[in-house]
Amino acid sequence: MCAASIALAISMDTNCIRIALGTILLILPCLPFLSIAEVIYPPLELFSISCGSSTNFTLDGRNWIGDNNSKLLSESQGSVAAPPNTPTAIQGPYTYARLSHSQFTYSFSLKAGPKFVRLFFYSASYQSFYRTKAYFSVTAGPYTLLRDFDASLNAAADDDPGQPDILFREYCINLEDGQKQLNITFIPSKTAQHPYSYAFINGIEIVSMPPFLYYTNPDDYDGVPQTVGTLSQYHIENSSALETIYRLNVAGKDITGSEDTGMLRTWKADDNYLTTQSTTSVDFGRITKLSFNMTQNYTAPDEVYRTVRNMGTNGSMNMRFNLTWQLPVDSGFTYLLRLHFCELDPFVLQAGDLMFVIYIADQLVTNRADVLLWTDNQKGVPVVRDYVVLIPGNRKKLNLSLKIHPHPLRRFEDAQLNALELFKINDSTGNLAGPNPDPPLQTPKAPVENSKKKSSDTTRTLAAVAGAVSGVVLVSLIVAFFLIKRKKNVAIDKCSNQKDGSSHGDGSSSLPTNLCRHFSIEEIRAATNNFDELFIVGTGGFGNVYKGYIEDSSTPVAIKRLKPGSRQGVDEFVTEIEMLSQLRHLNLVSLLGYCYESNEMILVYEFMDHGALRDHLYDTDNPSLSWKQRLHICIGVARGLNYLHTGVKHMIIHRDVKSTNILLDAKWAAKVSDFGLSRIGPTGISMTHVNTGVKGSIGYLDPEYYKRLRLTEKSDVYSFGVVLLEVLSGRQPLLHWEEKQRISLVKWAKHCCEKGTLSKIMDAELKGQIAPVCLRKFGDVALSCLFEDGTQRPSMKDVVGMLELVLQLQDSAANDGVMESGRDYEDSEDVFGSSHSSVHVSDYSKSTGLSTTSEGDRSYGSKESFVLISNDVFSEIKDPKGR
Ligand SMILES: *[C@@H]1O[C@H](CO)[C@@H](O)[C@H](O)[C@H]1NC(C)=O
Ligand SMILES: *[C@@H]1O[C@H](CO)[C@@H](O)[C@H](O)[C@H]1NC(C)=O
Ligand SMILES: *[C@@H]1O[C@H](CO)[C@@H](O)[C@H](O)[C@H]1NC(C)=O
Ligand SMILES: *[C@@H]1O[C@H](CO)[C@@H](O)[C@H](O)[C@H]1NC(C)=O
Ligand SMILES: *[C@@H]1O[C@H](CO)[C@@H](O)[C@H](O)[C@H]1NC(C)=O
Repeated sequence: MCAASIALAISMDTNCIRIALGTILLILPCLPFLSIAEVIYPPLELFSISCGSSTNFTLDGRNWIGDNNSKLLSESQGSVAAPPNTPTAIQGPYTYARLSHSQFTYSFSLKAGPKFVRLFFYSASYQSFYRTKAYFSVTAGPYTLLRDFDASLNAAADDDPGQPDILFREYCINLEDGQKQLNITFIPSKTAQHPYSYAFINGIEIVSMPPFLYYTNPDDYDGVPQTVGTLSQYHIENSSALETIYRLNVAGKDITGSEDTGMLRTWKADDNYLTTQSTTSVDFGRITKLSFNMTQNYTAPDEVYRTVRNMGTNGSMNMRFNLTWQLPVDSGFTYLLRLHFCELDPFVLQAGDLMFVIYIADQLVTNRADVLLWTDNQKGVPVVRDYVVLIPGNRKKLNLSLKIHPHPLRRFEDAQLNALELFKINDSTGNLAGPNPDPPLQTPKAPVENSKKKSSDTTRTLAAVAGAVSGVVLVSLIVAFFLIKRKKNVAIDKCSNQKDGSSHGDGSSSLPTNLCRHFSIEEIRAATNNFDELFIVGTGGFGNVYKGYIEDSSTPVAIKRLKPGSRQGVDEFVTEIEMLSQLRHLNLVSLLGYCYESNEMILVYEFMDHGALRDHLYDTDNPSLSWKQRLHICIGVARGLNYLHTGVKHMIIHRDVKSTNILLDAKWAAKVSDFGLSRIGPTGISMTHVNTGVKGSIGYLDPEYYKRLRLTEKSDVYSFGVVLLEVLSGRQPLLHWEEKQRISLVKWAKHCCEKGTLSKIMDAELKGQIAPVCLRKFGDVALSCLFEDGTQRPSMKDVVGMLELVLQLQDSAANDGVMESGRDYEDSEDVFGSSHSSVHVSDYSKSTGLSTTSEGDRSYGSKESFVLISNDVFSEIKDPKGR
């Protein structure tokens, strides 16, 4: 018996399977192999091929077979098996790859019927196959699965933090009767721009699936998908291939292949695609037994139906919004969207209790979705609904939206969903491939082949760039290129000639040389009198900041010299250049250029005469800023952050907003600086947050971010709220020698607000300057930024509007002569006790834009305390050494 089950075993891992108790006893001695019969759907065919490998291994329910010397590889001339130059910690078929500069084919002998075809890639360099040169197409039978696929670009765009550089694709392909073979062919795409391209693959998996799991059963009238926007039906024909785009366990956790019903499908949590702010996820536990009498029991694992997302118990509030998911897809294709439902809510008793409306791509598909109606009033019975929707377009990424909304006349004003699956259907040419994603940050990859040759004219340089980036990006690059070129008067030739790798610090990073000026070390030495101590205006853990003069000693600049050889700083250095060279905004500090040679990492910025905001707030000899100056500065910072969050192609999260990173120019205009920690916000794949290690500065850190490691733009809003309090109070966010209640400025301010005594935290220097109504509103804004729950915090756009209103209130109060008298206002309406959450954006939307530069009606001593750009991750900045 034991031997028999080993023979049957196809590498199902212990935790994968619903085990019938009787059989456990029989096969227990044979673990870890369990009988194939234990899963709900035992696939008849299962091939897991570890490409390039010569050994077999078992992992997570799969038996990976090495392809070396196997008969599968029918055309292998010239293909190479190699391990990656940098191994990954991710487990899977990633220890080897098969690579080739010419075409190669795997031939699988299979029975007729539908199959999953899965491709696994680890984007890395393998021996002499350089990572960024992987550029190829993949066909399977008559279908094109990938076309001119740039693996490294796709890996960069796929920001699944758990699986860096791993790419996974899943397809459904049906073999018609008589077809006995499926050929999967990898074809390098050779073009003028990609003369050295190659194809590679790390793992291939083929799993047979039940006949009508996704393909339409012609005999089952009810199961035919409905076409969105029409009343007609759409048959998923056997001649079509599908690509799995999303398979989401809504409100639940990730489900691994070995926990699936036998087909090794993976299910992901849906949080990244949910755009509605407040929803409830409910886990109904494992007690109620599900009965699969409306769908096959292998449709989805039990687990999927145990968790449901709904709108919460807000009652009539739920009528005001749609529970919404946004799923980025390639436009120009037709999609199959499968929705999974199961009613387990003990309060929902019969059909009609809970009925809701479903919109797909903003089109109504049903206004009476009623799970209990669909299941004939049986609870705990999973059902699915399939919809087919065409997303028109020219292959660009668009969001396919799914929205659900309560039916107004029902007992429960709610809507719910348990899971969804989204598939792309091949086009009429058999193609499933979409375009490559845009390069991250629109940074051109250094065209290595061209860098040695001096390209003497502009067009040739641009052509080289053109090869590396796609059309849209190119246009913006060219525009940016010329804008910067004109502005900074930088000769293109000079730029491209100077990036000869040998003179770089280590030559390994590709810096956006075309986007900002490269300074030679000689120029920097000349500008700073060979790093003369007299020129130091600031210092910190990163190194020193010098004031220097460039362009024939006419233009003052700030020169930040990272400590020579600081390995740790390279990432921050590159990030800062990449970020700042793309950004232009009145309220962001401008990067003029950089120097990266002779082991030096140097950044050159526009000079900020008045240094950091912090040095005008406390622990300083500088005269105090007026309230109106402070308001103008806050508005400027808010605008700068709003630009980062919304004004650029990919949202940028600053991650280190604090008063030392806000610099003031000669006209007291505020500019946000220090992008060394910035992150591109959620793009494409993950829509609402980025998972990341916590970076930032103590005292300013969003509690939600450090507790849950979820970075969103709302973390910047929190830090900005701390800055607002600093500006109001003229003290540091944390003062350890203060009495306990006052150590944390945020806690103290919240406390004062509750008591209606906000004026207690006010900077004594501001006495008599702030109109009471203005103080109240300002407090409102600051505290709304500091809400524990990031989703409740306003966006920076709203903050800009609200602060502009505060300024207007101040101005009109000043005109009316109503000034703060130093008295508290417990007696006035209790704005802080209960109603900061009632700050509505719309109240402010009409307020007009105001100039950010203040009148400069007071003049200040010209002490140049230029504490620039601290970086608390490495060390705390001390007061400027030097003068
Ligand atoms: C799944 O359903 C099939 C019939 O549709 C049944 O034979 C089988 O026992 C079920 N499996 C489980 C684990 O319930
Ligand atoms: C790996 O498994 C395949 C198929 O079971 C077998 O033919 C081959 O000999 C095995 N290779 C090694 C190195 O064990
Ligand atoms: C698959 O490839 C093999 C070898 O190249 C070839 O003999 C066979 O005809 C191909 N089969 C199909 C279905 O294309
Ligand atoms: C829900 O979405 C649909 C489709 O986009 C829209 O017509 C409707 O107005 C939305 N309802 C609410 C309350 O936002
Ligand atoms: C998918 O591709 C196949 C093979 O080219 C073709 O026969 C079929 O019509 C295509 N399906 C659709 C929906 O266009």
